[in-house]
Amino acid sequence: MKVASSAKWVEAVMSDFSSFLQDHASCEKKASAMAISLVSKYPDRPKIIQPLIETAIEELEHFRDVVLWMEKLGVSLAHDMQPDPYVNQLIALVRKGRDEGLIDRLCLGSIIECRGAERFRLVEEALEEPEIKRFYKVLWASEAKHGNIFVELALEYFEDDIVYRRLQELIDAEGDILNKLEFRAALH
Ligand SMILES: [Fe+2]
Ligand SMILES: [Fe+2]
Repeated sequence: MKVASSAKWVEAVMSDFSSFLQDHASCEKKASAMAISLVSKYPDRPKIIQPLIETAIEELEHFRDVVLWMEKLGVSLAHDMQPDPYVNQLIALVRKGRDEGLIDRLCLGSIIECRGAERFRLVEEALEEPEIKRFYKVLWASEAKHGNIFVELALEYFEDDIVYRRLQELIDAEGDILNKLEFRAALH
C-alpha cells in the first residue's frame, strides 16, 4: 500500500463503534458476493473458480461472525450503506477488455483485502476487550491471506510483469482515493 490509514480514521471508528459494525457486516457480505460475481463473469478460467468459492465462503463466515458480535452488543443489522465511495471509485478503474478486466478485478480484490487487513489490525489495536480484540486479529490475518490469493490468481493467467505493473498503478490510485475520503465510522 502506498498510503497508511490515518489515526483520525481509527478515532472516527472508535467514536461510533456500532455504526462501524453495521458497515463492517455489509462489507463482508459484499466481499462474498464480489468473489462469486467473478466466478459468474469468468467461468472459462477454471483455476480461479475453487479459490474464489473458498474466499466467498470465508467472507460469508466473517459476515456471520460480525452479525453474531452485533447481536451480542445489541447492534441491529442496517441496510447496506450506499454508496461506498471508496469501492465505487476503485471499480471505475476496471478496464474494458476481458483479460484487462480480469487482471484489474483481481488486483483490486487484492488491494481491497490488504486495506481491510490493515484497518482491522488498527481496530484490533484500538480495542480493549480481549475477546473482540481476538476476533479482529483473526479477521485481519484472514484478509491478508485473501490479499495474497487474488494476486496469485492473476499470476495463474498473466505474466508477472503485466500483473505487477498494473497492481502498482492501482495501488497508487487507491492511495489517492483514500487520501480524499472523509473519516467515517465505516471500513472505508
Ligand atoms: Fe472478510
Ligand atoms: Fe477478505
